[in-house]
Amino acid sequence: MFQLKSVTRQFGKKTAVSSVTFDIPQGQMVGVIGRSGAGKSTLLRMINRLVDLSSGSIVYDGAEVSSLRGAALRNWQRDCAMIFQQFNLVPRLDVLTNVLLGRLNHRSTVLSILNMFTREERIMAIGALERLGIEQTALQPAGTLSGGQQQRVAIARALMQQPKVLLADEPIASLDPLNAKIVMDALRDINERDGITVITNLHTLDTARNYCERIIGMAHGRVVFDGQPKDLTAAAVAEIYGADTGIEESMTSTSINIPAAEPQEETASAGLKPLALAGI
Ligand SMILES: Nc1ncnc2c1ncn2[C@@H]1O[C@H](COP(=O)(O)OP(=O)(O)OP(=O)(O)O)[C@@H](O)[C@H]1O
Ligand SMILES: [Mg+2]
Repeated sequence: MFQLKSVTRQFGKKTAVSSVTFDIPQGQMVGVIGRSGAGKSTLLRMINRLVDLSSGSIVYDGAEVSSLRGAALRNWQRDCAMIFQQFNLVPRLDVLTNVLLGRLNHRSTVLSILNMFTREERIMAIGALERLGIEQTALQPAGTLSGGQQQRVAIARALMQQPKVLLADEPIASLDPLNAKIVMDALRDINERDGITVITNLHTLDTARNYCERIIGMAHGRVVFDGQPKDLTAAAVAEIYGADTGIEESMTSTSINIPAAEPQEETASAGLKPLALAGI
């Protein structure tokens, strides 16, 4: 259970997030929407402490996240995985190693420096890639994958952290609609099957409506809507995006007809058994 109380962040004179207060029960799938500059990324980054709060507090399961330091802060950042619009993979490293990097803050510095991963970790990494349907890419350099595949690698890496919370900052903003659907389906599956709280910033209203049980709308750093998709009326949408824009749902939509099955991509390692890929 998350409790945000009067969470505020200023950058100089600019107030990016202004006195945001809400609770999120464990296992909820929450979409955060709003115009560019509304404060969505800053809010997520404060939750995982990539950015410090100017004032207010964030409490998770009774622990004050906003004042964690040292090892406790690193533990929190492990429990609270984050994925980004630009994937943040190491492009020249193979996919499997990128996924294994998600284990780094579970292990000792010495093992990490030696880049040694255990057999169990490798099996876990292959399992995560299989779950995302991209195990056949395990030995390719991550930079050679399509955007949709790279985002799935990033999700697999996040799963290796065995997080309680998954934060996603515009995870589909760089993807075509088919890959956007695959990635959102994966996030939903993680939320539903693993009970992981998912908080995702989204720039498309229809995606938030389709995937999130709760939508938080931000404007000028403040929460101006907090409710279920069915409560998101035209007036609420106008308040979030600004009445002056004459916003229509289609303007924030990625909807197209999505083919039933994803075409199979040819990869260098196609045909190899997943565990063989992991060197097992
Ligand atoms: N490191 C920073 N230094 C100065 N100003 C910042 C910084 N980070 C964010 N801001 C400002 O805070 C405000 C909120 O930015 P934020 O990135 O959180 O918005 P956003 O809703 O994520 O926008 P977008 O949809 O474009 O990603 C903006 O005015 C932005 O310019
Ligand atoms: Mg942003």
